[in-house]
Amino acid sequence: MKIVRAKDYQDMSRKAANIISAQVILKPECILGLATGSTPMGAYQQLIKWYEKGDVDFSQVSTFNLDEYVGLSDDDPQSYHYFMRKNFFDHVNIDLAKTHVPDGATKDPESFCKNYDRMIAEAGYPDLQLLGIGNNGHIGFNEPDDHFSAGTHCVDLTESTIQANSRLFEKEEDVPRQAYTMGVQTIMYAHMILVAANGEKKAQAVRDMCFGPVTPSCPASILQLHTNCVVVADEAALSLCPAE
Ligand code: GLP
Repeated sequence: MKIVRAKDYQDMSRKAANIISAQVILKPECILGLATGSTPMGAYQQLIKWYEKGDVDFSQVSTFNLDEYVGLSDDDPQSYHYFMRKNFFDHVNIDLAKTHVPDGATKDPESFCKNYDRMIAEAGYPDLQLLGIGNNGHIGFNEPDDHFSAGTHCVDLTESTIQANSRLFEKEEDVPRQAYTMGVQTIMYAHMILVAANGEKKAQAVRDMCFGPVTPSCPASILQLHTNCVVVADEAALSLCPAE
């Protein structure tokens, strides 16, 4: 696990965007695993700026998103489909047909999940998987548990995640109680993993991810076993980690 120290959110975002754009420049037809949430928004904004300047071209890139709330349709403003279009896809030259976000409105969750895994496997797994981290150490929506999950599946969200994500909804009752998420095993198949983290609220989770025991009670801790994982975090998120 390589830790890259950033001064603040802006610096973290630029560094993360630099790594993503390097991937796209080195392999224009790459597969990107993408994440939602407040953490990657700055990196997406930076990538959009570089696209507008002509520095990066997304025309051949394919993407697979980590997760989606159960019950929300593509055009629901709270859905991760909507988030991705609003914050990234609509502003760059990505081919929407090559983008994939789990279908929150599926009527057949079991075959949907199997099919999502099959598509990711057939694509050869993400060259780069971008991740944020939950306050409780979750990755995607893989919540603390007594085992690591395998493929894409439906999860019951924990109270702490519902509460953390309620800031993006009008009221806490509006937050869906379930989500579809790529499993931990699928995430681990990515050829490179880039975790972005900022702010004091993430400090304990970042410490547990990087320096704690590898345990499903902190799902992100399994990233210690990945051979090519980079954590880009700001000073506040690294404040509980050993200095060097
Ligand atoms: C959300 C998402 C994760 C995200 C995490 C942190 O619930 N499912 O993919 O990484 O929680 O979110 P944020 O970046 O807003 O802190």
